[in-house]
Formats: sequence, C-alpha cells, structure tokens
Amino acid sequence: MKPVKVGLLGLGTVGTGVVRIVQGNQEDLSSQVGSPITIEKVAVRSVDKVRNIDIDPARLTTDPWEVIRDPDIDVIVEVMGGIDLTREYILEALERGKHVVTANKDLMALHGSAILAKAQEKQCDVFYEASVAGGIPIIRTLIEGFSSDRIVKIMGIVNGTTNYILSKMSQEGASYEDVLKEAQELGYAESDPTSDVEGLDAARKMAILGTLGFRTNVELSDVTVQGISSVTKEDINYAKNLGYEMKLLGIATSQNDHITISVQPTMIRKNHPLASVNGVFNAVYVHGESVGETMFYGAGAGELPTATSVVADLIAIIKNLKLGVNGLKAIVPYKQKKLQSDDQ
Ligand code: NDP
Ligand code: HSE
Repeated sequence: MKPVKVGLLGLGTVGTGVVRIVQGNQEDLSSQVGSPITIEKVAVRSVDKVRNIDIDPARLTTDPWEVIRDPDIDVIVEVMGGIDLTREYILEALERGKHVVTANKDLMALHGSAILAKAQEKQCDVFYEASVAGGIPIIRTLIEGFSSDRIVKIMGIVNGTTNYILSKMSQEGASYEDVLKEAQELGYAESDPTSDVEGLDAARKMAILGTLGFRTNVELSDVTVQGISSVTKEDINYAKNLGYEMKLLGIATSQNDHITISVQPTMIRKNHPLASVNGVFNAVYVHGESVGETMFYGAGAGELPTATSVVADLIAIIKNLKLGVNGLKAIVPYKQKKLQSDDQ
C-alpha cells in the first residue's frame, strides 16, 4: 500500500506530540485509512537541538519551503506558529494541491477567509481543530454538530495558560510570575506569552468560534479584549469571599443577528459549571435555540491533547483523499454580520 506522506512544519510541543501519536498509534491509524502514514520531512529552526522524540535527523530541515515544495508530500501539518511567513507557506502548499492541517489560531483568526478560499479554489482541505481549545473537538461540533440550529451564545474558557495561572493563584495562593513560568515550562504558553496573558490568544479563538457559531465573518477587531496581567491575588480573594471564581471568559452573543463579543476577567458564581474548570482545562458553553444549553470540556493546551486534534484532522483529510471528496468547509463568506455598535 502506498504510504500517505506528511510534511511537518514545527517539532516543538505540538509537533512532538504529532510524531509521538503517529508513531505510537501507527497500526490503528493505518488501518483506519488503509495506508501507512509517514512523517516524510520536518521543518525546524535548529537541526542540532536535542529532542525527546525518536526522529531520523536526515528528515529534518531548517527550510520550510523544502517541505512545501516536495512533490511527494500529500499533507502539510503546520505546528510552527507565526503569521505572515506561515500564511505564505500554507497558501503555497494549497496552490500545489496539498491538504493542510494547522493548529494556528493566530493565522486562522486573521487570514482564515483567504486560506479557506484558496483551499476551495484548489479543492483542498484545511482543517484547524487544534486552533481552539486544544483537545476539545469544538470546531467540528460547531460546523457539523450544530449546523441545524441557530446559536445564540458561546461562552468559553479558551486559554489554558491563563486558566492555569488563575486557578493556581486561587487554589494555592501562588504568584502570577511563578505560575506563568510553570505554564511556559509545561509547553502551554505561546512563544511570546503576552498574547496569552493579555487576552489576545483567547480573543483570536473567540473570533474563530463566533465566525463558525454565528456563520458570519467575525474579525479580531470585533472582539473587545482585556487580559489578566493586572488581576491580583487580592482581586481573586475578594471574588472568592463573595462566592465567585475569577476566570478569563470569552462571551459571544448573537441577538436578532446583532453580535457582541468580548474577552475579559470575569467573576463567575461558584455553582456555575464554568467556575470549576481549573488548571489547563478549557470549556466551551454553547447555547442554541433548539438544542438549549451544551458544554464541552477538556485539556486546552499541551503536547498530547493538542496533537490528538491535529492527528484527528490528518486522519479526516486522508479519509477524504481516499474517497476523493473534501470536507468540513467553514469560514466561507456567510451572511453579513451586524455588530451591536453598528446601531449606536
Ligand atoms: P513551539 O514553540 O513549542 O514549537 C515551534 C516549532 O516550530 C519548533 O520545533 C521550532 O523549531 C519550529 N519553528 C519555529 N519557527 C520556525 C521557522 N521559521 N522555520 C522552521 N521551523 C520553525 O510551539 P508549539 O508547539 O507550542 O505551538 C505550535 C503551534 O500550535 C502554534 O501556532 C501554537 O499557537 C499552536 N498551539 C499550541 C498549543 C500548545 O499547547 N502548545 C495548543 C494549541 C495550539 P525548533 O524546535 O528548532 O526551535
Ligand atoms: N497558549 C495557548 C493556551 C495554547 O494556553 O491556551 C493553546 O491554544
């Protein structure tokens, strides 16, 4: 059986998890898709770095274009991060007829429409499940699971780093700086953790969720953002004494097609299910007119939970390849969005 050849951009926290799952579950994955899956080439910044994964050094390159331009590679898995260059890599991969998996919410929140339009033009798949809420399959759920319903509200704890920090400050009285360092060591934080702590990472994820849930193009500039860098232990204790937990909460609502969307530190009453989402865990609450209230919970960051979503996307793409179909189209230009501020 001809193997499906994968080009990997990035071998950090998520990329290592992808290799670990593809290698460790090879037998099961191959039997699901009817072919072996090989990680053909991997782009990294440094080929000499000591890595805690068994990978043939001959497969490593510091030039992502070498991976993109390899005619034998069928699917590109982008887990290196970044925006402008990464956009070029992915657009070129699609131009060459390669399918793409990405975990990059920064890219999808800013350039998702252009990337998905190119994918449509080239009849390629772009799947990005890991870009929001790590191991929780929320993107599939919004695109497919709720396609029959009208979503009116999405609330989410969608950043693992800040939830880890706020939980440890609340439960252990730990210091903000110490826990942020821990979250970085555990691979939860972005390479520049400013985007985590200032709420930008959560805002990008909420823009993606709003776009998919409300079937319109929500842009980052539509999201009002406040992070947690100025939240003190005193604020958290004050909230606790009143019967609340402090969480960085994304809230998106659509009422008569008017959309409001925000990310900010929020006091949540202790008996609310979102108040007990602690550590690196994320949760996304979705309220649909017909389905009512639903909630999805799981690890929002980290090597294996995130890689689970990435590899599931890879498997979905290979199944589509075998069937000669494309799937899970989203962020097409849906209906015109109306923001609350449009009326003011
Ligand atoms: P890391 O910083 O751990 O890894 C990045 C990888 O990309 C490294 O292997 C690095 O090489 C490589 N790389 C970076 N820039 C270049 C470049 N210009 N050329 C070649 N290789 C490059 O990042 P993560 O694994 O944490 O995150 C990757 C992506 O996944 C990001 O978009 C992130 O937002 C997203 N994500 C991360 C999650 C997490 O829990 N960490 C969860 C969900 C999404 P080298 O190893 O040599 O330094
Ligand atoms: N830095 C992100 C977080 C990674 O902490 O949630 C997952 O997207």
